[in-house]
Amino acid sequence: MSAEPKVLTIPDLREQKAQGRKLTVLTCYDALFARLLDGAVDMLLVGDSLNQVLAGHATTLSATLDQMIYHAQAVCRGSTRTLVFVDLPFLSYQVTVEEALRNAGRVMKETGAHGVKLEGGEHMAETIRALVRIGIPVMGHIGLTPQSVHQLGGYRVQGRDPAAADRLRSDARFVEEAGACSIVLELVPAALATEVSRRLAVPTIGIGAGPGCDGQVLVLHDMLGLNEGFRPRFLKTYADLAGTVREAARAFADEVRDGRYPGKEHSFE
Ligand code: KIV
Repeated sequence: MSAEPKVLTIPDLREQKAQGRKLTVLTCYDALFARLLDGAVDMLLVGDSLNQVLAGHATTLSATLDQMIYHAQAVCRGSTRTLVFVDLPFLSYQVTVEEALRNAGRVMKETGAHGVKLEGGEHMAETIRALVRIGIPVMGHIGLTPQSVHQLGGYRVQGRDPAAADRLRSDARFVEEAGACSIVLELVPAALATEVSRRLAVPTIGIGAGPGCDGQVLVLHDMLGLNEGFRPRFLKTYADLAGTVREAARAFADEVRDGRYPGKEHSFE
């Protein structure tokens, strides 16, 4: 059995990297799962992937700030020992720095989360710097940035050719220098992700970016095997909850139909 991880603070993140300790992150969208995950991983990410996973949309683009705040409040209610980061949704931080400050400020004031995550490299450096300057911890996100999925032509590996790899290296530097406390690397070739991770002092959190990152993140519902049919190469499923849920529903329906449920023990005199 592995020991429970230490409860981290934002400044601890660099220290964890310096000590060679891998960071563990799962997405979380509600209080019930937050209670189950609390203390098991280092960070919970209220990802805008909730727009796909929970709401059934094809992309994250239509997620709203109010939606993110609602789910982040629930996650913060359920977690007491885990850092919570919240995705800033599309168009809540790209238009002006002032809007980014107001919207990230709302997330911090209204949810109790420890920081926000936003997508983009060099062009987001000014915004990251402004957020960090007023005390809002920022997790960066480069490589495959889902809010730009159409521009990128789909959910595909980034940084494969030399020019794209150079852009990724430079984006990582800009995001770190702007003050981000960690950086998600999504769908990046493993060797490039390893190289970028070695060059940075802040931890990288990989998803589809190989073992050389300083930590790993997965979408909770995917790793629990709840998202049937979604089996990208990078995903490892640690449970088959879809099968469990379906079996439980069938057992319930069978028992109701043939009169085995509810029994005397489930009924009131
Ligand atoms: O929205 C999300 O869940 C994410 C992770 C996949 C990193 O951004």
